[in-house]
Amino acid sequence: MNNFDQLIKHEMATLDTVIRNDLGSQVPLINTVGEYIISAGGKRIRPLLTILCGKLLGNDSTILYKMAAMVEYIHTATLLHDDIVDESGLRRGRPTSNAVFGNAASVLVGDFIYTRAFQMMVQSNSLRVLQIMADSTNIISEGEVLQLLNIGRSDLTEVEYFKVIESKTAKLFEASARVAAIVSDASEIQENALANYAIYLGTAFQIVDDILDYNSSAEVMGKNVGDDLLEGKVTLPLIYVLANGTSEEIALVKDAIDNPKNADIAQIVAIVNNGMALDYCKDMARSYVTKAQAELEIFTNNQYRDVLHKIAQLSTERIN
Ligand code: IPE
Ligand code: IPE
Ligand code: MG
Ligand code: MG
Repeated sequence: MNNFDQLIKHEMATLDTVIRNDLGSQVPLINTVGEYIISAGGKRIRPLLTILCGKLLGNDSTILYKMAAMVEYIHTATLLHDDIVDESGLRRGRPTSNAVFGNAASVLVGDFIYTRAFQMMVQSNSLRVLQIMADSTNIISEGEVLQLLNIGRSDLTEVEYFKVIESKTAKLFEASARVAAIVSDASEIQENALANYAIYLGTAFQIVDDILDYNSSAEVMGKNVGDDLLEGKVTLPLIYVLANGTSEEIALVKDAIDNPKNADIAQIVAIVNNGMALDYCKDMARSYVTKAQAELEIFTNNQYRDVLHKIAQLSTERIN
C-alpha cells in the first residue's frame, strides 16, 4: 500500500469510530434508522476534508475529529431528507431509509441527526463555528428549495444550475474546510484558501455526481441511474443537450422534462451519452479541480497538502 492509501485508510478507520460515537439516543427507532444509514458508509469526503485541512495546519485535536463527525451528520441528515424529496429508492447500495422505514421516520430521524450536529458544534466553544454552520445549513436549505422550484424547467440556465449546486453541495464542503481552519487557529489567508479549495472541489464533485446519473450503474454508484431525469431535475448534461442538440433531440428532452414519469429514460440517457454533453461536463468538472488545486499553493509542501491535491484529482477520476 502506498503512503496516500495508508494515510486515508488510517483516517477513515478513526473517522468511522468517531462518527458512530455520538449518534446514540434513548429512543430505539432513532438508533435503528441512524445505524442503518451511517453503517452503510458512504465516501465520507467532507469529514475527511475537515481532518486533512486541520492536519495541514498542524492540528490533531479531539475537537477536530468532533467537527469532522458533525459535518458528516449534517450531510447524513440532508441525505435522509433529500431521498424523500427526490423519491429515491437506493442509497449507498441499500434501499433508502424512506423505502425501509417510511417518510415520517426518515424526516424525524433526519431532524434528530441534524440537531445532534448542532449540539456537537457548540462543543467547539467557538461562536464563529456556530456562525459558519448556521449560515451554511441555511444556504443548503435554500439550494434545495431553489432546486425544487427548478423542477421541470427546460429553460434552466447554467448560471441557475451553478447557483443550486454551489448552495446545496459546495457550501457544505466549504464549511468542512472553514471549521477545520477555525479550530486550528488558521490565519485569514489560510482559512480562505482552504475554503476556496473546498468550494471548487464541491462544485466539481456535484458535476461529477450529475454526470454519473447518466453514465454509471447502480452497482458502482450505490444509487439508481436516471433518478435526476425521472423527477424532472435539469442538470448540466441536459442543459448542454438543450443548447447544442439536434432539434429532434431537443424536442425529446423537453418532452421528457415536461412529463418525466412517462418518459423513455433509456432514450434520453442514450442522447446524453451519444453527443458531446458528458465531455463538456467532464471538462467543466476538471476545470474546477484545477482551480481547487491552485488554492493549495500557499501552503508549504507537506504530505497533507499532497493528499488534498490528490483527492481533488481523484474526484473526477470516477468519470473516466
Ligand atoms: C451525495 O453525496 C450528495 C451529493 C452532494 C452528490 P456523497 O456522494 O458524498 O454521498 P455519500 O456520503 O458518499 O453516500
Ligand atoms: C444532493 O443532491 C445534495 C444534498 C443532499 C443537499 P442530489 O440529489 O444530486 O444527491 P444524490 O444524487 O441524491 O446523492
Ligand atoms: Mg437526491
Ligand atoms: Mg445526484
